[in-house]
Amino acid sequence: MKRILTYGTFDLLHYGHIRILKRAKEMGDYLVVALSTDEFNATKGKKAYHSYETRKKMLEAIRYVDLVIPENNWEQKIQDIKDYKIDVCVMGSDWAGSDKFDYLKEYCDVVFLERTPGISTSQIKNDLQLQEAVDGVDQVPRT
Ligand code: CTP
Repeated sequence: MKRILTYGTFDLLHYGHIRILKRAKEMGDYLVVALSTDEFNATKGKKAYHSYETRKKMLEAIRYVDLVIPENNWEQKIQDIKDYKIDVCVMGSDWAGSDKFDYLKEYCDVVFLERTPGISTSQIKNDLQLQEAVDGVDQVPRT
């Protein structure tokens, strides 16, 4: 059985997330997602809209995902690869060349898949804020 591992926050689940999970699963038989905890995100200055528990439940409902484990820190990856007998670590191309993943090549295959263009959690948040600003203007009472 070929086992795949990927990492991320997967907040405001979107089409780019589904596509990377689908392609990751197609590379093997069993997909483990290491999901950034709220505490780990706080150390990165990042705050997800959905809690870890909610993000975990949503990922578990996706047919490509076999197991969700917590990502608590930057240093756990070698242990994850050993614990879950991982063959391939897969990430989006935004992580290619980053020192966060390249060193894992000693322990398993490391593959970067092209990011889906035009969508991200940050972009959704920005777009909704812009929309709110526009709606706010429209809602100014007319005299
Ligand atoms: N990803 C992707 N295509 C996108 C967005 C994300 O392939 N359009 C991949 C990332 O490369 C990563 C995984 O999905 O491997 C989880 O990414 P995450 O950072 O949780 O999602 P983003 O939408 O990139 O979130 P943010 O905008 O907060 O960085």
